[in-house]
Amino acid sequence: MTLSAKQAVDVLRAAGEPTRLRILALLQREELAVLELCRVLDQSQPRVSRHLKLLAEAGLVERFPDGAWVFYRLTGAGRQCEVVAEVLARINPDDPGLARDRRKLDDVQAERADAAQAYFAENAVHWDRIRSLYVSDADVEAEILRAAGSGRFRRMVDLGAGTGRMLTLLAGQADHALGLDLSQQMLNIARRNVTEAGLTHVELRHGDIFDTRLPDASADLVVVHQVLHYLGDPAAAVKEAARIVAPDGRLIIVDFAPHKHEFLREQHQHRRLGFSDDEMARWLAEAELPQVGLRALPPTRADGLTVKIWAAQRAPTVLRSAA
Ligand SMILES: C[S@@+](CC[C@H](N)C(=O)[O-])C[C@H]1O[C@@H](n2cnc3c(N)ncnc32)[C@H](O)[C@@H]1O
Repeated sequence: MTLSAKQAVDVLRAAGEPTRLRILALLQREELAVLELCRVLDQSQPRVSRHLKLLAEAGLVERFPDGAWVFYRLTGAGRQCEVVAEVLARINPDDPGLARDRRKLDDVQAERADAAQAYFAENAVHWDRIRSLYVSDADVEAEILRAAGSGRFRRMVDLGAGTGRMLTLLAGQADHALGLDLSQQMLNIARRNVTEAGLTHVELRHGDIFDTRLPDASADLVVVHQVLHYLGDPAAAVKEAARIVAPDGRLIIVDFAPHKHEFLREQHQHRRLGFSDDEMARWLAEAELPQVGLRALPPTRADGLTVKIWAAQRAPTVLRSAA
């Protein structure tokens, strides 16, 4: 499929303005809230919103509300976006304006990361209690066990392992289990918990969900439990998690359905207030890992949250016998 001349003009007109080009370059890094874009661009919200509206009308960016916040991301598919990606790729990376924006976005991301690190360091000892405030752990865990299935796993990987709850729940079914987390405080508690559970085959490592450094297709069970809503780029985390899933292996993602508990953002460092099924289905499709299951566990109390369990599975490798 090619673009019509009119479509090409519309794309170039939308992208062909300095602030809008800067916005596209920033959104290439990750999805951003309008207020974050205003901060990096150093422009007022009405002005930035006007530019975003034009970009959205041209099909180059996508607007998605999340609680009281509004986020934008690159549309990501279609010829229009390819034209923009091509233009951005040809700009000198040292261009002073875009380099300044990149540095400012680095600062915004670093502030966010520091706040999250401080939150987990401070709350590591309370995490098991905090986790069960809005959901029934027992119901969620029963569903996770069901989604994982009763078989044995050669290697399980828990990304954002926290205090190790998923490891103590599932590692008994695995020959080897690995938990990765960015927070040393969380890892310390996880170490104690897995030791107390007698799980000697569980390894805990400091590591980043965006860059696990694990080989492709190396785990037959990958779990991402209540981690994505803290992240700046959840789609990239899903992609990295999917990358390490082995043939016939499973990825289980547990997170919240969209909700409006804004205080979780303000007081508990949540970045996203849940995820829609469409959003998750798209990320799994982009990561080329077919979704095989979806369960919703409604809250057991009025102020609770709906927990979603998305399961995806890599196709088994078909062995061809010699003729
Ligand atoms: C809410 S806790 C969930 C922990 C555990 N999965 C559970 O459900 O109990 C989120 C965890 O993700 C970790 N985390 C946040 N960003 C991360 C990243 N980029 N890479 C690895 N871990 C991360 C935090 O340190 C924290 O331990």
